Amino acid sequence: MASECAALTSSVTLNTGFEMPVLGLGTYKAKGVDVRNAVKWAIEAGYRHIDTASIYRNEEDIAEAIRDSRVARESLFITSKVSPYQQGYEKARKALQESLTRLGTDYLDLYLVHWPGASSVPVTSERNVHLRHETWRAMEEAFREGRCRSIGVSNFLRTHLEELLSASSVVPAVNQIEVHPYLTQEGLREFCASKGIRVEAYSPLGCGELLSDATVVRLAHKFGRTPAQVLLRWGLQTNLIVIPKSVTKERIEENARVFDFDFELEGEDVASLLALNKNERFCWSPEGVR
Ligand SMILES: NC(=O)c1ccc[n+]([C@@H]2O[C@H](COP(=O)([O-])OP(=O)(O)OC[C@H]3O[C@@H](n4cnc5c(N)ncnc54)[C@H](OP(=O)(O)O)[C@@H]3O)[C@@H](O)[C@H]2O)c1
Repeated sequence: MASECAALTSSVTLNTGFEMPVLGLGTYKAKGVDVRNAVKWAIEAGYRHIDTASIYRNEEDIAEAIRDSRVARESLFITSKVSPYQQGYEKARKALQESLTRLGTDYLDLYLVHWPGASSVPVTSERNVHLRHETWRAMEEAFREGRCRSIGVSNFLRTHLEELLSASSVVPAVNQIEVHPYLTQEGLREFCASKGIRVEAYSPLGCGELLSDATVVRLAHKFGRTPAQVLLRWGLQTNLIVIPKSVTKERIEENARVFDFDFELEGEDVASLLALNKNERFCWSPEGVR
């Protein structure tokens, strides 16, 4: 993967023409006052991109924090996701409306199919293919109606993407997948790039597990930065959109300082992080989902 140090910007243009900030706040497992504070601190620190999902059950709290921040809706980028429980045309349309209502907005910047499979359907069943295509049909409709500015997928393998591309007319704008130096996903990232699909890295800190990795710690010392900043910078320099989650004020601010203009990993550092790859996941695996 090429490093694009010189071209590092704070947003990218999606295949829909809309801009997406390359740093967002993750909110998985953050609820109530924790997520309300996290969103407040993130907005104060300059974040304009918030990642949520119907299954996180925090959309109403996020909406409240956004309202209190008094930042204009137009300057925010909000992502939500249709869950495996909401796969299928009718359910997906209803799910979108419910997310919009909970988030107190009439459009999402990005709406993702959270998972290639549907709940209560065996992973190897052909029915998963049918249901996710029906979900996508509902999402294409919402895209055309302007209720989603961009639509995309999450946890899709190449096979899932190829199937979707052959059966639909809108190319996903984003594939949100787990990526960090232990799971670099180069093949899938190259495939996405070849189709104009942006890759968004979830668990960019490996759920915190990579913060004590010896190479990451060595690079943090070398640059006088923190391990989290090294991991996020690596993501940005290899063309990823990153959404670190934190409910801690200092960490939210620390993660935003990845944009400091005097902080840039060198080519050999980017390569030494890529070399840590061992295809290790800290989250769920879509391998085997039909
Ligand atoms: N599409 C999907 O299937 C999917 C799956 C997983 C995640 N996601 C999205 O991606 C987001 C991020 O992934 P993730 O939450 O799994 O993991 P992550 O962002 O890699 O790691 C989060 C963990 O790191 C800690 N942390 C954050 N910044 C830190 C720092 N500067 N120093 C030390 N520790 C730090 C957090 O602690 P504190 O919060 O206690 O500060 C939390 O325990 C999620 O929140 C969610 O929005 C999507």
